[in-house]
Amino acid sequence: MNVKERRNILVTCGPGLKDYLQAELEGLGFKIVGSHPGSVVTRGSFLDCLKLNFCLRTAYNVLYLLREFRCGSTEALYKQIGTVPWENIIDPKEHLCVLSRVDTWTVNNSMYPNLKVKDAIVDRINKKKGRRPDSGPDRNSVVVNLFWKNDRAWIYLNTSGVKLSDRNYRKMPHKAPLRETLAAGIIMATGYDGSQDLVLPMCGSGTLAIESALIAMNRPAGSMRSNFGFKHVKDFDRRMWEEIRNEVRETIRKDGLQRRIIATDIDEQAIEAARQNARTAGVEHLIEFDVCDFAETEVPDGRGIIVMNPEYGLRLGELEQLENEYERIGDFLKQKCSGYTGYLFTGNKELAGKVGLKASRRMIFYNGKIECRLLKYELYKGSRH
Ligand SMILES: C[S@@+](CC[C@H](N)C(=O)[O-])C[C@H]1O[C@@H](n2cnc3c(N)ncnc32)[C@H](O)[C@@H]1O
Repeated sequence: MNVKERRNILVTCGPGLKDYLQAELEGLGFKIVGSHPGSVVTRGSFLDCLKLNFCLRTAYNVLYLLREFRCGSTEALYKQIGTVPWENIIDPKEHLCVLSRVDTWTVNNSMYPNLKVKDAIVDRINKKKGRRPDSGPDRNSVVVNLFWKNDRAWIYLNTSGVKLSDRNYRKMPHKAPLRETLAAGIIMATGYDGSQDLVLPMCGSGTLAIESALIAMNRPAGSMRSNFGFKHVKDFDRRMWEEIRNEVRETIRKDGLQRRIIATDIDEQAIEAARQNARTAGVEHLIEFDVCDFAETEVPDGRGIIVMNPEYGLRLGELEQLENEYERIGDFLKQKCSGYTGYLFTGNKELAGKVGLKASRRMIFYNGKIECRLLKYELYKGSRH
């Protein structure tokens, strides 16, 4: 494989995050050449994929196109996949995982094509090298993705392996944590860049706070990960990887945080988890953690950003209590946060209405399958109570 050859790169993301992913790619100097639901297409080399894996905050997977072909049957699929020189890409000692998404009249589920792709790859390697790699669902080594739609198929090298949302800093989960990619998207949607004070009451295990600190310092999201799919392909060159990382690290802010990040939660265990996660991410010193009711959170004077992610789970009997919490959130925003731009992230429209403030913007996100809204409130300056 020529690691400098420019090909299509398909970057996948969670629902609702595509605009932010697109902005990130453009910010890194990549041109957008196409888009699908849940993915964006750009152009670049295998080496560019390394940089994208290191930097992107809202992406799930970075997929490097190996081959695109017409495909009318599983036999044709096997034959075409067998023409890729896999023996130059995958060492037989590596483990192979194949992921398939199939939407064609020829077959009615993706299991059989998935098996065909796996067979074509391991058969070719076995023929050329006399040994076949093991295969299975484990994504920690080489991962290959098939997309087969109608009569066209695309086979990609998944240079991420395990999804990039798995940043490797969340050693201590707490209840209802946001996915790291979603938290990064929410913070990007607020326009936070470290030049404002940021207040995060109800911070839970600290995902929003940690992603904010990484954004403020311009620290790459992949800094804490040691494993990526690209590390398991034959052409991976450790020195090149080191060079790419050093180049990116040059852009990390050296002068520390200009403004404050304050993160609080009423639950002592949540703050303990948040602190530990921030320590693992190397940003604990940038965040001021405190255990308190959200209404007691310190809100520095001036203009800043406040983001709240209260619970919205609707187990029986909880609704009334949550309604009361949302009303209190409204009072807190009105009375203690004037001059700030407020954001509420919730999966429950009715509860959001209890805040009693008129949202100036509503942005749709998905937390798992739940449609959520990030509501923006301009909290005009007046006297604070
Ligand atoms: C949905 S979770 C936040 C999850 C967080 N965004 C994360 O990624 O881990 C809501 C948090 O609000 C906290 N909470 C509930 N009531 C609170 C209150 N009155 N004051 C402060 N925090 C509260 C809970 O302890 C919980 O950690």
